[in-house]
Amino acid sequence: MIRTHTCDALRIEDDKSEVKLIGWAQRIRDHGGKKFIDLRDREGLTQIVFDPDVTKNFSEVESYRREFLIEIHGMVRPRPEGTVNKKHNTGEVEVLVKEFTLVNACDVLPFDLDKESTQEVNEELRLEYRYLDLRRPEMLKGFQRRHKFISALRYFFDNHDFIDVDTPTLTKSTPEGARDMLVPSRKHEGQFYALPQSPQLFKQLLMVAGFERYYQVAKCYRDEDSRKDRQLEFVQLDLEMSFMDWPEFRELMENSLIEAMKVYNKDMSHADFKSLTYAEAMDKYGSDKPDMRIQGLELVNISDIAANCGFSVFKSIVERGGLVKGLRVPNGQEKYSRKQIDKLIEFCQEHGAKGMAWMKVIEDNKIESSIAKFFSEEELESIRSNLGGQTGDLLFFIADSKSTTNDVLDALRRRLAQELELISEKDAFAWITDFPLFQIDEENGNRLKAEHSPFTMPNEEAVKFIEENIKTKEDIETHKNELLKLNGDCYDLSFNGIEICSGALRIYKPELQKKVFEIIAMPEEEIQSQFGWFLKAYNYGAPMHRGLAFGIDRIVMLLEGKTSIRDVIAFPKTKAWTCPLTNSPSPVDSKQLKELHIKLDITEKPKKE
Ligand code: AMO
Ligand code: AMP
Repeated sequence: MIRTHTCDALRIEDDKSEVKLIGWAQRIRDHGGKKFIDLRDREGLTQIVFDPDVTKNFSEVESYRREFLIEIHGMVRPRPEGTVNKKHNTGEVEVLVKEFTLVNACDVLPFDLDKESTQEVNEELRLEYRYLDLRRPEMLKGFQRRHKFISALRYFFDNHDFIDVDTPTLTKSTPEGARDMLVPSRKHEGQFYALPQSPQLFKQLLMVAGFERYYQVAKCYRDEDSRKDRQLEFVQLDLEMSFMDWPEFRELMENSLIEAMKVYNKDMSHADFKSLTYAEAMDKYGSDKPDMRIQGLELVNISDIAANCGFSVFKSIVERGGLVKGLRVPNGQEKYSRKQIDKLIEFCQEHGAKGMAWMKVIEDNKIESSIAKFFSEEELESIRSNLGGQTGDLLFFIADSKSTTNDVLDALRRRLAQELELISEKDAFAWITDFPLFQIDEENGNRLKAEHSPFTMPNEEAVKFIEENIKTKEDIETHKNELLKLNGDCYDLSFNGIEICSGALRIYKPELQKKVFEIIAMPEEEIQSQFGWFLKAYNYGAPMHRGLAFGIDRIVMLLEGKTSIRDVIAFPKTKAWTCPLTNSPSPVDSKQLKELHIKLDITEKPKKE
């Protein structure tokens, strides 16, 4: 037996027991001619004592450094009074070493593994030596919780009759909107597999196959630009169900999260899941992933008033189809000086606004502002009352294109909420439903394209509209504006202001699918070559089915209180999408390229060899 106990196991009751431990030297101290080492394994720490009078070959330990792996045999004894360490479970005892063996020495560490200083270590270096970075107990604990969280979800779905099915990772491109990662075929010259952006089409086919309930903890690959909450490869808990309406499905999904979040000692209930439509979310919060922990600071659309006012900045924006919105900062005048307001204006400009107009609500609910002169008394009063402004408040306004106004106010709202401490402690989810089905494809002659996926079921109202009004190609052009207002039976889930999940009811009627492809003007040839294999299945008695995918890395990042997804992935890529540990991506030798029928067309040679 290599060890009798882990480094977290010994207690005062073990006094005088003969034990064997193995672990890494976390800390080494000299004291009164003896050596004290905190021996660490994944469970915890035990203090071991090397005494020249007792320990065989004592002198060997003199040269030991941190992270040497040591095997010991010794006897448990109570720590002398005054040296008990309550921080560790083993803090009442120590092991007096009789014999020891060095299993493996450790080179000088490239960085200090202590928690505080490691935060300051260059991330590239941490990732190059990730196995050392991961030795830090708090990292290990994070991964243990991540594992338990995923296990809890699996357990939940296993107990609700879901079947875990592996779907291919060498496949054909799936339309999730990012670039595909491609894998060249050796056998089929000039042809490629794509790594899946998600198991979307396969899970749909499992429903056609009659599996009814599928889930999978699936690796997904997307060649996207780098962001703190994105990786090239990431993990989804992906699922699909047949014969479920939205309320029944939603309740089940909430139950799964409520259960799994217990791993993080979170006591959530259905009341913590709000639901609002995309239109409501954009209107009130300027975002399709609003942070529902923020109290107040809701946006108010004043475009109607702005359309007729004398302030040309506002008026002209509305005339050009833009949006004027404002928000109220309760007691803002006390909290923001003139100088600080200027900083907020700069912040808005950094986020794309041309400016930020502001007003003070002074005594008797009167408005004071450099732009007040452009408005009538009635207009000012109407603005104030729409925003709910009261004496002492500040009112902030942005006028710009729809998207800029919303984006800027969303960012401003999140910043103000932080500065004014208006973010409640309690976590909050929000389902955002009824996203638009179509958007304008500016790169393709302003025709319509699918907002998310061409397989998303239009909601009831939209199905009715399409069936009644879209019969010919001309109808599409005639009803373009109305089509742009149609929404899908789809949903995202945001958690504390970050999108963690997305899903939809899928189109399961071939005729409707055909119509949607006509609306987005996808040529028949392209439909057939890309999706013919998939669409064919829907001619064989397909059931209605809906599903979603949880972005596991993102949820865990939030639950762990981290700001980067890289902290919850064992071996992540850097911001530049490289892996300093393995030095990938890297060139391959010409023989490999030849076998794959690939000739490189690059002007500079890759730097790495
Ligand atoms: P979607 O594309 O919205 O939906 O992805 C679902 C969730 O996966 C997470 N996610 C990511 N996490 C890390 N890095 C990335 N690059 C990344 N991209 C997405 C997000 C997101 O909410 N097939 C559909 C699901 C469905 O309709 O059933 C899909 O993949 O948290
Ligand atoms: P100006 O007419 O540029 O002097 O701007 C008058 C006020 O309106 C200033 O307080 C600007 O910050 C503000 N302002 C300018 N452009 C915008 C805009 N697009 N949205 C909101 N406020 C603006």
